[in-house]
Amino acid sequence: MRLIILGPPGSGKGTQSTRLVEKYGIVQLSTGDMLRAAVKEETEVGLKAKDVMGRGELVSDDIMVSIISDRVEKPDCKNGFVLDGFPRNIAQAEALEKLMDEKELNLDSVIELEVDETILQDRIESRKEQSTDVRSDDNVETLKNRLEVYRAQTAPLTKYYDERNKLRRVNGMQDVDQVTKQIDDILSDL
Ligand code: AP5
Repeated sequence: MRLIILGPPGSGKGTQSTRLVEKYGIVQLSTGDMLRAAVKEETEVGLKAKDVMGRGELVSDDIMVSIISDRVEKPDCKNGFVLDGFPRNIAQAEALEKLMDEKELNLDSVIELEVDETILQDRIESRKEQSTDVRSDDNVETLKNRLEVYRAQTAPLTKYYDERNKLRRVNGMQDVDQVTKQIDDILSDL
């Protein structure tokens, strides 16, 4: 199974992806986690990404597409994957479509988590309180920018995937188990 999970910052993409990994034996490909690891290890990509992420902007499409293109080739992706945080704009979606065609991989579904912006800030605040490893982009100013970037660049992907008949919308404001149940129902119908 190959999926994309779409949604604004704090909508629950990471939370639900982890559950999909457990249930379907697929791999979570979180571009945010990959970039944070690269920043921590001070790799070339990490050095380029650090300030961009700190501002809540998007890392360049070339870097991101190359990371994903290499990653989906790895043996652990054989059973499938859930893309969490990628694609992030139309250019990345087009590049993904092209690379999946070339590799003869089928995209099964795109799940969009719909959550009101007022709720997102509270969720990110509580993630900060619960975590010992606070993210450099989890502050009010950067979150504002991350939401603006989402609205301008990522939200148009819903139309893109709707036109391709891949998009399924889920109410991400329900509790975590209910969101998981709604996703399961969608996937069992595929
Ligand atoms: P990324 O790491 O992808 O961050 P994000 O999209 O802002 O999303 P988050 O990780 O903040 O939230 P989430 O939706 O995963 O929610 P979570 O499950 O944690 O990207 C970070 C940065 O990296 C970007 O700004 C950009 O700079 C760069 N980047 C990444 N990918 C890129 C790309 N493709 N191109 C260019 N740049 C890229 O949940 C949040 C909180 O809510 C948690 O505490 C959770 O417990 C709680 N929660 C979850 N679900 C529920 C629920 N149903 N009810 C109540 N609480 C809930």
